[in-house]
Amino acid sequence: MEGKWIWTTVIVVVIVIIAAVGAYYFTRPSGEEEKVLVVATSADFPPFEYIDPDTQEITGFDVELIKMIGEKIGYKIEMRNMAFDSLIPSLQTGKVDVVIAALTITEEREQVIDFSKPYWHADQAIVARKDSNIVINSPEDLEGKVIGASMGTTGFLWVKDNIGEDKCTLNAYSSFVDAVQALVSGQVDLVIMDTTVVSSFEKSYDIKQVYTVETGENYGIAIQKGNTELLNKINQALDEIMNSPEWDQLVEKYFG
Ligand code: ARG
Repeated sequence: MEGKWIWTTVIVVVIVIIAAVGAYYFTRPSGEEEKVLVVATSADFPPFEYIDPDTQEITGFDVELIKMIGEKIGYKIEMRNMAFDSLIPSLQTGKVDVVIAALTITEEREQVIDFSKPYWHADQAIVARKDSNIVINSPEDLEGKVIGASMGTTGFLWVKDNIGEDKCTLNAYSSFVDAVQALVSGQVDLVIMDTTVVSSFEKSYDIKQVYTVETGENYGIAIQKGNTELLNKINQALDEIMNSPEWDQLVEKYFG
């Protein structure tokens, strides 16, 4: 008789424990599990993305912007740094969730990834060494020159498509920093880069802008194709931020 009571008690206690643990897992606030967005960039593009020399962290305008967006939509942001031409493939294969990299919205890229609404405008700049006497008055003047570019960027593609590799020597580098270093050390005559980063590079290297190609580009934040839920959230957050004083402060901090 006593054995029966002991067993009943044990069973009741076990059931109560299971129920309590279950109730905890099913009812705890969802905010406790931190949702993470893995965000890739190519940190060779100041002031949009670069490595902070003091902290060695990835920082810049884009990095702060995506963190602000993450905060609004309830995600913690984890940054990854990679070569520019690995960004889109990493997004396509799902290695990362988001790319923010001063990435120009183009029709070709829109075939394989989705973009947010535009948040910045750019053209392409042709830069030379500061002591160079190269004069460029039109795209034809680029013929016969040795031009450096960052692999896969819109500047690289512009030279390829509009000047042609039969009319100039186009040297592709895995980063803008490498391309600019090649310019300074005399391996190339000119480098093509977004107009938005020229003044930052001028601070660290003896270079100058000698021509502007009005490509009329817009930067967007990229995500995997078809993830409309995430895209809508990002767009809404971007809208709110761009229409608030936070935006002006961010612009002032990096471009002021
Ligand atoms: N806007 C250009 C493009 O989309 C260059 C972007 C380079 N960005 C970077 N983080 N390196 O091709």
